[in-house]
Amino acid sequence: MCYAIPGKVKKIEGKVAFIDYFGEEKKAYGEFFPLKPGDYVYAQGGYVIQKVGAPEAKEILSSWKDIFFKLQSEDVRLSRLNLAEKGINKKVSLLLDRALEGKALKKEDLVHLLGLRDEKSLSLLYKAANFYRQKYLKNSCCVHGIIEISNECKLSCHYCGIAASNNTVDRYRMTPQEIIAAAREAVQKYGFKALVFQSGEANLYSVDELAYVIKKTKELGALVFISFGEIGIKNLEILYKAGARGLLMRFETSNPALYKKLHPGQALSTRLAHLRQSYKMGYLILTGSLIGLPGETDEDILNDIRLARELNAEMYSFGPFLPHPKTPLAKTKTVSEERILKVLALARLTGDKEAKILVTTGFETLSPNARKLGLLAGANSVMLNVTPIPYRKKYSIYPHRAHESESIQSQVDETIQLLKSIGRAPTDLGVKTGEK
Ligand code: 5AD
Repeated sequence: MCYAIPGKVKKIEGKVAFIDYFGEEKKAYGEFFPLKPGDYVYAQGGYVIQKVGAPEAKEILSSWKDIFFKLQSEDVRLSRLNLAEKGINKKVSLLLDRALEGKALKKEDLVHLLGLRDEKSLSLLYKAANFYRQKYLKNSCCVHGIIEISNECKLSCHYCGIAASNNTVDRYRMTPQEIIAAAREAVQKYGFKALVFQSGEANLYSVDELAYVIKKTKELGALVFISFGEIGIKNLEILYKAGARGLLMRFETSNPALYKKLHPGQALSTRLAHLRQSYKMGYLILTGSLIGLPGETDEDILNDIRLARELNAEMYSFGPFLPHPKTPLAKTKTVSEERILKVLALARLTGDKEAKILVTTGFETLSPNARKLGLLAGANSVMLNVTPIPYRKKYSIYPHRAHESESIQSQVDETIQLLKSIGRAPTDLGVKTGEK
């Protein structure tokens, strides 16, 4: 199965390739290898990541052609919106109308939307977010793979199941060879085009080892994201040079006092400095926060969305905090599915209109229908777990994680089936001409 549609390079201007996809032109950086007009390529996250031979590309394109337009029209059908529907709350429809016009809503209005409880209003909020997603991002959905390379950690974040303070965790460290083998399988056997490497924060690998793994994975033709915590600006630079182009690092909460309480010995400012510097270096930023942390207010959540936007995040990752029994927050009440959906919808309506929004694994763990519900409430990205199965259970940041023991193939099949059922194409093409 393939997670991207090959496009044809029309022209090159400097490092930027202009690529045609079924008549629509998109831009992508072609900095990894030389390109010329007429080449068929895969792009991901705005980067050209692979060249494809013309016969292979033409075959894939012809198999996509009909379905691509069918999916698009199904998505348009499902994302229609009627703000004048009978029986809906006037205030809600007025606020959503303003948001859809791109106007900023007042804080009290956003708090009002975040506090909605009645089914009709909630459904309208989700539909408005879905409409907005369709308007700016069409039916494309990112499907990234994540490989959790080690669960060792030296930190003691109060919410996290693999914190150093939890001595019941069976710790593991994949060797660089094991990581590369897992990446190769994900790319070559299952067709992943973007991979995230994640670990606890433990300095277990030298920066040279990480750089090597990144370089090898990039050479397989994948866009590489890293998620190793606060590894220092210099190391981020080294890993960028090795070929990493995305950084996944949640700021966890935008409230500095709450951050300090939950992260002994750490400061929000240091984390934000990593995110800001990485953006300046050229990294695509994936960030967001935990929803449902004890002590968090509505205002905190709205600030979280604002902060993700201010950090120029390419993808927002807002997911539920799920209490782990071996942590100081074990007794916290779990946040509701409804609250997460409201956050996704508000992130769509008030965040950057081009931002991708992830349905997190945490949300999938909280709710069996998370993917479908999230994708119909503003989200347009999913992440599959491609960590070798024996390690997955050990990466127990919270209990009973979704996809803990599902084969890669069954995750892929399920995802593709769901996306097709709601008119989405598992693609993350370049950026539309004229943007960025
Ligand atoms: N519930 C939900 N998410 C968690 N994370 C860590 N612990 C938990 C938990 N108990 C998330 C953090 C971190 C990411 C790797 O895992 O947000 O950034």
